[in-house]
Amino acid sequence: MSQALQIISNEHRSMWQVSVVLEELCKQCADPEQKPDAELFEQILNYIEQYIERVHQPKEEAYLYRAVAERTEEGAAMIEQFRREHAQSPEIVATLRRQLHQLMKHFPQGREQFRADLESYIELLRTHIMREESELFPLARKVLTDVDWDEIDTAFADSADPSFGEESRAEFRSLLTRIVNEAPAPVGFGLAREERKDPEAHPVLLSVHDLSSHYGRIEALRGVTIEVRQGQLVALVGANGAGKTTLLRAISGVQKVSGGAINFAGQDITHARPEQRVRLGICQVPEGRQVFGPLTVEDNLRLGAYTRSDKEAIQEDIEQMYALFPILKQKFRQAAGTLSGGQQQMLAMARALMGRPKLLLLDEPSMGLAPLLIQEIFNVIIRLREQGKTVFLVEQNAQQALSIADYAYVIETGQTVLEGPGSELLVNEQVKSAYLGI
Ligand SMILES: Nc1ncnc2c1ncn2[C@@H]1O[C@H](COP(=O)(O)OP(=O)(O)OP(=O)(O)O)[C@@H](O)[C@H]1O
Ligand SMILES: [Mg+2]
Repeated sequence: MSQALQIISNEHRSMWQVSVVLEELCKQCADPEQKPDAELFEQILNYIEQYIERVHQPKEEAYLYRAVAERTEEGAAMIEQFRREHAQSPEIVATLRRQLHQLMKHFPQGREQFRADLESYIELLRTHIMREESELFPLARKVLTDVDWDEIDTAFADSADPSFGEESRAEFRSLLTRIVNEAPAPVGFGLAREERKDPEAHPVLLSVHDLSSHYGRIEALRGVTIEVRQGQLVALVGANGAGKTTLLRAISGVQKVSGGAINFAGQDITHARPEQRVRLGICQVPEGRQVFGPLTVEDNLRLGAYTRSDKEAIQEDIEQMYALFPILKQKFRQAAGTLSGGQQQMLAMARALMGRPKLLLLDEPSMGLAPLLIQEIFNVIIRLREQGKTVFLVEQNAQQALSIADYAYVIETGQTVLEGPGSELLVNEQVKSAYLGI
């Protein structure tokens, strides 16, 4: 990748992290008793201002935007839109700052307005970042010449530049560190909340006992035992070929088992047909997405609700999916096959949720995605957990999965070898050396 795009992408990731902190603060603002953390807000607004004035935007405008706009008409139109969004930002940030000052003086007066404006700003920020990466970057790669890239990369690498050089970058980085350290939990990948540890509140929904399964003579599962409690996010991590997908397929009923038992919501489903399990509320998002390519995004969502007949509620759920995955709303008429990999992953998850499953099985949702999209997918999973959905998440990305899981298992060659709360496995020495590269 070009060095400039790499730098921009890193800055995006940091900004995304900041937007997650903002979102957390925004939620706290919903509580009429709680005064906002003014100091943290100030730091965040300073960060954004710095980003706009000195770090990110000026260079992006002067080099990348200019070059893309010069090359094609399509590029010129796209850049005009991005420039408009950049131009709005300083004023919105200044307004938020004023509103915050007023709110601190006259609390709780102005709380609702502040929260609403903040929410739409977060949305704007994220949409802008997503579009730069999913639309601007690909176009730039297509239309810019080697000479263009040389000029752009050289400009971005110039750290002596006083207006956006190394000095302002260092300031900017230290701001980010402070924000993330002072942020209320959970920040993006927060740790499991205490209340979720109360077993009474979370009866066992799925239990897999001593399960084995074969492909011919290969024994892919050798006595796996796991439990998923209602309302919990349970993760299964393990290397390539450990048997993760096989286990999920056995739970969905598309993989034959040769021993052991599977129990769901109090019923023995070890030998139930896959359709029966879907009707009971088990839904798997398969590895590699598998959306219906020729159908539109919205038709794919409707298909997800095929077991349901409640038309109005289906429409409401579609709206909910658009709130959870704004990019799908933008593309609702587009053929699913034309979406990017990350977007298809989101569609596959949304389609599964349309069936209102009692248990959602996710098979490596982050596989093959760019870092920013991985973050976005994990944010959605965190939100599902907050909504009280029950999720069984299979991941090779152990760091991310363990840091959001209420409970987790480690699988090696068809056997679970470790289990415990996600936060405990995250600091387990064995896990650290085998899966986290620490
Ligand atoms: N269709 C198949 N035929 C024969 N062997 C298979 C088949 N599918 C999987 N296996 C074998 O079963 C074992 C478990 O595979 P599985 O796909 O469940 O692993 P996984 O943990 O999901 O790996 P990955 O992270 O690569 O998705 C592996 O040894 C694999 O080679
Ligand atoms: Mg797999």
